[in-house]
Parts: sequence; C-alpha cells; structure tokens
Amino acid sequence: MNFAVEKIRQDFPVLQQTINGNKLIYLDNAATSQKPLVVIDAVANYYKTTNANVHRGIHTLSQEATTAYEAARCLCQQFVNAAAAAEIVFCRGTTEAINLVAQTYGRANINAGDEIVITALEHHANIVPWQILCQQTGAILKVAPINEQGEVILAEYEKLLCNKTKLVALSHVSNALGTVNPVKKMTSIAHKVGAVVLVDGAQAAPHVIVDVQAIGCDFYTVSGHKLFAPTGIGFLYGRAQLLQAMPPYQTGGEMIEQVTFEKSTYAPIPYKFEAGTPNIAGAIGLGQAIDYVNRIGREAIANYEHELLVYAMQQAEAFPGLRIICTAANKASILSFNLLNIHAHDVGTILDHQGIAVRTGHHCAMPVMQFFAVPATVRASFAFYNTKAEVDQLFVGLHKVKAMFSNV
Ligand code: ALA
Repeated sequence: MNFAVEKIRQDFPVLQQTINGNKLIYLDNAATSQKPLVVIDAVANYYKTTNANVHRGIHTLSQEATTAYEAARCLCQQFVNAAAAAEIVFCRGTTEAINLVAQTYGRANINAGDEIVITALEHHANIVPWQILCQQTGAILKVAPINEQGEVILAEYEKLLCNKTKLVALSHVSNALGTVNPVKKMTSIAHKVGAVVLVDGAQAAPHVIVDVQAIGCDFYTVSGHKLFAPTGIGFLYGRAQLLQAMPPYQTGGEMIEQVTFEKSTYAPIPYKFEAGTPNIAGAIGLGQAIDYVNRIGREAIANYEHELLVYAMQQAEAFPGLRIICTAANKASILSFNLLNIHAHDVGTILDHQGIAVRTGHHCAMPVMQFFAVPATVRASFAFYNTKAEVDQLFVGLHKVKAMFSNV
C-alpha cells in the first residue's frame, strides 16, 4: 500500500528528536498522541491573533473566536456523523464526558435496584463513575465477562441484560488490549431491553471510522489528545432528545438563559453543559486535528495501522518467551505483552534507554490485568506516523532486554 508515512512524519516536530542518544520511536500513542504542526500552529495563531471570550462580546475578536470555536464543533459533528452540531458538547475529554453522563442522565434516570452493565474490558474512567452512581442511587453494577482472547463474551453480555438494565457503558476499543468491540450489535442488544447506551470512544476515534448514527448509540465520548489535538479538550456526543431532558452538569456563566436570585433557567443544548469559559484554543486545535486526519484519509489510516499491527503481531508470535495479551479477532493497533518473567517496568526502562517509548503498567485498567493474572503489561500502541522499521527496532530492543536478563 502506498501510504506516505515518511512525508507525514515531517508534520510532527516531536518525532524529529533523539532520546537517550537514539532516534525517538514513539509507541505510546494510546496514552497520548503527538501533535502535527498545523495543530500547534492553530493554537499559537489563535492566541497571537484572535484570543477573546466566546458567545459574550459584540467586538470583532470575540465574534471571530466564536466563529472558530463553533466551526470546530461542526468538524466534531461531521467526524462522528452526529445529526446536529448541538449534539456535540465540548468537555475535557472522555473522563469528563462519562462523569457528565453519570451525574446528569444517571442521577435523573437511574434508581435503586436498577442495573448498569459495563464490560470487563473497561478502563477506570468507564468503571469508577458508574460505581459512584451506584453508591449514590442504590443501582447495581454488572460486568459482562471476557474470554482468553480478550473479547467480550456476547452470549454472557446478552444474558446480563434485562428490564432492570437502564444503562450500558462499553468501550469501542479497549485501551489495555486493543480489542474492537462490536458496538453496533451490542447497542442493538441493549436497546431491545430499553437501556440507554454510552460508547467510550477514547481509543477508537484515532483509529476507526466512527458513525454514531450507524452504531445507534445514545452517547459517544472522544478525547482530543488521543486524536492528535491538545490535552484538555474532547467532546461528548449525545442524542439531542436525551441532552435536552438532562439536568445541567456544572453551572455558572455561559450555560444560563436567565438568572434571578429566585430562579435560573438554562441555555439550549449544547451550551447548557458548557459552564464557564471553555477551552477555546483546545477546541480550535481539535478542529484542526480532525481536518488533518480527514486530509490523510481515515480509511487509509485504518488500513495502514492494520498493516503495522499485523506486522508487529507476526514478530511477537515468533519471539521466544513473549506472551501476547489479547489475540482478539478484531483489534486496533495495540500490542500488549509480557516478556518471560521480566517485569514490564524493567522492559520499558531498557527500551527507553534505546529511545523507544512504550507504556508499562496496568494502563488504568486494573481489572483487565486481574483477568489475565498479570501485574502489568508492556503496551506498544501504533499511530499512522509509525513505520515497519520502528516495529523492527522494538523487537531488536526486546532482544537486548532478553540478553540483559539472560544471566540474572
Ligand atoms: N487511558 C490512557 C492509556 O491507555 C491514559 O494509556
């Protein structure tokens, strides 16, 4: 396939450096992605030329800032194929988006004895907000199990759902393992019992084409920083009808319509959920990141990353002493593994000495580690700016790790 990866790499200033005397090989994209120059420039230019508060001023800069902020919202809408821009609520990212849904939709609609279903693949941001909601309401948290391949067991998931299930929250792509969940099918199963479905798209948005209308979900969450945008920005997609009926999350300026000391009324969606001055520069950066990804082509990115994953999996399978954690049939570009009985942190440290950045640890998904009975894994996560040569270097690095531990 002709994917212009070397040209694309030139767009990312951070990749042009050495770490510990070696060319940086950045394989920690699931933790956060690198930013292309167009995004960095968009944020800098906003502060250089346009900085003003949005939706508040009649002066020129305020209007320009508002136009740019709302244009970014439209790009987010198109990115996930939402029916309307009003269904896109800017927030800090997936963690805040899930907490928002738990504390607004959840508090208003979930009662004692109701059930919330998640999966055993979830990261902490899609577990803890529901545990807290259960503590607050008396609802019960149920967990759909996974198999040894790292896939949700659909028959067990279906068995868990009943007329008590009020909400299902599931990841589109697992951050610890890379499993791609069949979210359309899982949503339709949940809708049969009348449950509302939230899909956590933090790891999917950078790799998979997302169409919330085709999935049929009620909520979908995106983190900008995993999508080549700045940190501290992301969005919640919510079906308009649900967002309209939900109480506000944070309150203050920007989210109101009328305030008296007796009573306040709230702005229409999405502004009802955007209290205070928002991350305007971040939203503009996110819009630029989406535009950048669109220009490369989302299908081309998905195909290229799949090629990288297959290439890495083949080498991992052939590597003596390496245990791949997750062999799901449908995987995004994440390779989680352990090497002999060497602790993941030791592997990560020795790789770092060679300029190779991977994440080691529990990946904010401790229950996944508990299922596979490992304290931690090494996780190499690939983006479209990674190359097969970098994959090769990862395995050269792992041979060095093995050699260092051979006499221990
Ligand atoms: N959730 C992020 C990760 O998977 C931080 O590394």
